[in-house]
Amino acid sequence: MEKTKVILDCDTGSDDAVAIMLAILSDKLELLGVSTVAGNKEINFTTDNTLRVIELLGSKAPVYRGCHTSMVTKIAPGRRGGYNGMTGVSEFNVDAKGNIIQYHNDCLPIAEAKTKEKKEHAVFWLIDTLMRSEGDIVLVPTGPLTNIAMALRLEPAIAGKIKELVFMGGGFKVFNSTSCAEFNIWADPEAAQIVLTSGIEKITMVPLDATHSANFSREDAKELRDYGTELCRVVADLIDERVTAYDAYQPQNPLGTAPLHDALALAYVFDREVLRDVKLMRVDVDCGGGFADGSTLCDTRAYPDRELNCYVALDADRERFVKLTKELLKSFK
Ligand code: BDR
Ligand code: CA
Repeated sequence: MEKTKVILDCDTGSDDAVAIMLAILSDKLELLGVSTVAGNKEINFTTDNTLRVIELLGSKAPVYRGCHTSMVTKIAPGRRGGYNGMTGVSEFNVDAKGNIIQYHNDCLPIAEAKTKEKKEHAVFWLIDTLMRSEGDIVLVPTGPLTNIAMALRLEPAIAGKIKELVFMGGGFKVFNSTSCAEFNIWADPEAAQIVLTSGIEKITMVPLDATHSANFSREDAKELRDYGTELCRVVADLIDERVTAYDAYQPQNPLGTAPLHDALALAYVFDREVLRDVKLMRVDVDCGGGFADGSTLCDTRAYPDRELNCYVALDADRERFVKLTKELLKSFK
């Protein structure tokens, strides 16, 4: 069976980390490389974390450092009022030991990597790799879409070379950074709008509505921890950390569970059944700088007045996703 060629573009982060792991472990995928972007953390951390994950798995996938800030949002004064680097959190909670509860620590609980990132900038690597390809690469962005939009601006022809783009981001009825925006899109709304209107043949958005339907629990973390391998221990730590943060800032139903958003988007590339209720819509991003800034506007009318441009997943198969994730993680000794 021919493997699907995939490139991940990540702001690694706890859930991006699991997406990278699945991309390496799935025998249905060939991971061509990972580009990094600022988002969950600043670019030094997201790049360093990416290298740690890749080395932990003994993979040779190259890592390319990308954009350290969004395209234009930070030029508009006041636009990002209240932003403190933590999805929709204006006041931190602390745990019993007085430590700040966070979704993502600066560094993942993995040994520092010896390997370094490649010298070439991620945006140029993306353009080069896509232009030389036979149009057979699936692109999976799991952070702000800055690198992809920059690449599209520099070389619009890459749009015709991307077989499919599956991104984690946006919300249909579920939001986190603001009352109507999800973090990856809110962190760089212009970039998201550029990608959505680029003419890429097939774009699939994996919004919070889907990712919050496929949460992991503390029991899942325990099962992985008990399995005893280093990789399963790392993911158990990440799940526990995320559950603590979600309980503190975005309590889920049931309590004691948390999404691994980015891993779900990646899993969809090799298992189409993990997403449910996937509908073709017209999606645009509000870039107005007001209350709706970074909101994904999904047109559900019978006769939208703009071309349909994006498949939107409204639900996910939790059992299937959790099972396949655990199986793949356990397959690595
Ligand atoms: C998205 O934002 C980040 O915190 C996560 O890594 C995920 O990509 C969820 O809103
Ligand atoms: Ca992410």
